[in-house]
Amino acid sequence: MNKLILKLILTGLLCTAISSAYASPEKDREALIKYVEVRFPGIALEEFANGAYAYDTVGRESWEAIEEFPPYEIAVDDGQEMWEQPFANGKSYKDCFADGPVIAQNYPHWDKKQGMVITLALALNQCRKANGEKPLKYKKGSINNMLSYISFASRGKKTNVVIPEADAGAMAAYEDGKKFFYTRRGQLNFSCATCHVQNAGNKIRSETLSAALGHTTHFPVYRSKWGAVGTLHRRFTGCNKQVRAKPFKAQGEEYRNLEYFLTYMSNGLELNGPGARK
Ligand code: HEC
Repeated sequence: MNKLILKLILTGLLCTAISSAYASPEKDREALIKYVEVRFPGIALEEFANGAYAYDTVGRESWEAIEEFPPYEIAVDDGQEMWEQPFANGKSYKDCFADGPVIAQNYPHWDKKQGMVITLALALNQCRKANGEKPLKYKKGSINNMLSYISFASRGKKTNVVIPEADAGAMAAYEDGKKFFYTRRGQLNFSCATCHVQNAGNKIRSETLSAALGHTTHFPVYRSKWGAVGTLHRRFTGCNKQVRAKPFKAQGEEYRNLEYFLTYMSNGLELNGPGARK
């Protein structure tokens, strides 16, 4: 064999070996995309940012009607007011988030110093605490205004979760979130994947199951069932309860790591929040 060709082959093999050792989140994402493409032929990937409405044509019609008078609009406005308003010490959110409100695409991210996954909700409360303000609750209430405002401002940006693969802590957090997603739990013994991968597109009671791809692009979400805007971790809680599993603490390590994994799966998809769902 020609020496040059041999060298090229060897280099190629080496690159593959390196990428498989280090690129596992990316491989996971590519595998999910492939799965979705086979399961839903003809549906453009960016459609998955619309959840089950990517393929539930009946539900989509009423959803589009609702979006004409978005039920989360007040939350966006109230959030903007909170963003502008100074804290008691004269500072404001703007002092913590120097880049402005177009930041949702970068969350959650690994914080090396704190050694943990930082979600946007957690970052907002860390800002409040640093300025002597009481933290906001993590599922219901006015944290959703702040999240709605930032989510709306970040529309059109592409999900860009970075997992520093050389950082063992970040990789462990990602793996932990991935394991959570695939672990069966509750009396019904379902994993997140049972419903949102294997059964995506199927109906459960009156609801069409969304695919995990695109799950995070549109949070927080106004739900008619809640009569309010709620956080992603509120949704996690509800989904855990559906299978009669004990939910975890909103913004505790389990759900933050789950969010890290789940949001990474949507990398490259456009943010289109806040959303509206049944
Ligand atoms: C028994 C089936 C079931 C299981 C298991 C389940 N969910 Fe759900 N989930 C639903 C249903 C039903 C909905 C509402 C319809 C839809 O959007 O899929 C939903 C909605 C969601 C949404 C909102 C989708 C959107 O478009 O806004 C997210 C995010 C989500 N689930 C995440 C999870 C996660 C993470 C887990 C594991 C902790 C999980 N679910 C487990 C049934 C399930």
